[in-house]
Amino acid sequence: MTASLIAPYNRITMTQKPNPAQDQFANKAQAWSARFSEPVSDLVKRYTASVEFDQRMAMQDIAGSLAHAEMLAHVGVISAKDLADIERGMAVIKDEIESGQFQWSIDLEDVHLNIEKRLVELIGDAGKRLHTGRSRNDQVATDIRLWLREQTDLIQEQLTKLRITLAEQALNHADTIMPGFTHLQVAQPVTFGHHLLAYAEMFARDGQRFADCRARLNRLPLGAAALAGTSYPIDRERVARTLGFDGVCQNSLDAVSDRDFAIEFCAASAILMMHVSRLSEELVLWMSPKIGFITLADRFCTGSSIMPQKKNPDVPELARGKTGRVNGHLIALLTLMKGQPLAYNKDNQEDKEGLFDTADTVRDTLTIFADMMQGIAVNKESMRAAAAQGFATATDLADYLVKKGLPFRDAHEVVAHAVLTCEKKGCDLSALTLTELQAFDSRIGADIHEVLTLEGSVNARNHVGATAPARVKDAAKALINQLRSG
Ligand code: ARG
Repeated sequence: MTASLIAPYNRITMTQKPNPAQDQFANKAQAWSARFSEPVSDLVKRYTASVEFDQRMAMQDIAGSLAHAEMLAHVGVISAKDLADIERGMAVIKDEIESGQFQWSIDLEDVHLNIEKRLVELIGDAGKRLHTGRSRNDQVATDIRLWLREQTDLIQEQLTKLRITLAEQALNHADTIMPGFTHLQVAQPVTFGHHLLAYAEMFARDGQRFADCRARLNRLPLGAAALAGTSYPIDRERVARTLGFDGVCQNSLDAVSDRDFAIEFCAASAILMMHVSRLSEELVLWMSPKIGFITLADRFCTGSSIMPQKKNPDVPELARGKTGRVNGHLIALLTLMKGQPLAYNKDNQEDKEGLFDTADTVRDTLTIFADMMQGIAVNKESMRAAAAQGFATATDLADYLVKKGLPFRDAHEVVAHAVLTCEKKGCDLSALTLTELQAFDSRIGADIHEVLTLEGSVNARNHVGATAPARVKDAAKALINQLRSG
């Protein structure tokens, strides 16, 4: 993973020293044409330029240009010498960008024109031939797809790490008993391992969604040119192969205007963050001293500047909060696309910042959560004590009576009476004597007390997908093996 992928892009400053060579272009009205007689105002320039943020796709832009140039040379549209010059020039530009020497200029609008103009400065006419048979419209669509493909792969790696952590913790806590809740009321005992594996399932589906999204995004738009294709004898399949795409976009109008893949990426991200947010909500609740099920490692928490006793679960709270911005980016993209006629419109330039922020937020969140979930300290006693309250084994008593021949609805009624009695006495069902229990139904025998224990309850739920420690152990082990073997 290169630093440029992880670090937020460096915003260029408008006070940056101008590059005299690039200013020649700027002085000639704009970079794109000699046809315009008056320059745009500084405000309009800033309003329309994207280089501040799309320079993040510089490496993808270079890769796309090199593949395009190689194809142009192959089909004889440019010479072998031109290609060699372009490759040489691009190598210099790559170094300049990686070392931070590259002079980005807002006068050159976006990443594509900045790189192209620098290429012309470095190698002359061959640089001017690069843009033959393509447009920034198919160029930018290609760059975003390449960029997003890489991000998707990074997210998959992080998702796998998080799932391994969850599975390992599930194995550690396969027989740690906690209350399972419905309506945030104690419902039935479950194992903490089982609870963690529920999140592992959610994140597995997230992985599938990203894989599905990747399959559709991995198509090459280049060759669509501005919108209609090009009259040069291009070989799109060749470019697709060079860039690792699975094929080419089949309609040029669609190729330059489609942003479905970005929307799908944001949708998959929003669903993933919704899962993270639910987990966060639980972590926050569990860490509340009133509940006290877990403690997060200090490095994920902060104190209060005024209340010395506080240790706040900042990371899960922030993750819950950041889910909002990821949702926002999805809605922004859907809205961005909904009114656009075919084909490319400048609106599309607005797709990037939200997309970048989505990928950054998801990657950072997953990385932090894998580490954080590994370091949680579990307070088994509090979990157990909470499970022992609230008549968590009431269903077990009803099921016991059903097995003795009582219809379930009648059994439900009998247990409701027993619970009422316990509430009055202020005790749990398991604290009633056999004689007391038999007063509710004579079918109750000496074997009942085993049924009413927390262990009896979880052990009894022993089928695929249920909470019995043996099942949780098997499921966790199988998941670890599956994920470790890739
Ligand atoms: N910066 C533009 C974008 O992000 C590149 C494509 C511009 N094409 C054009 N015809 N203005 O979408």
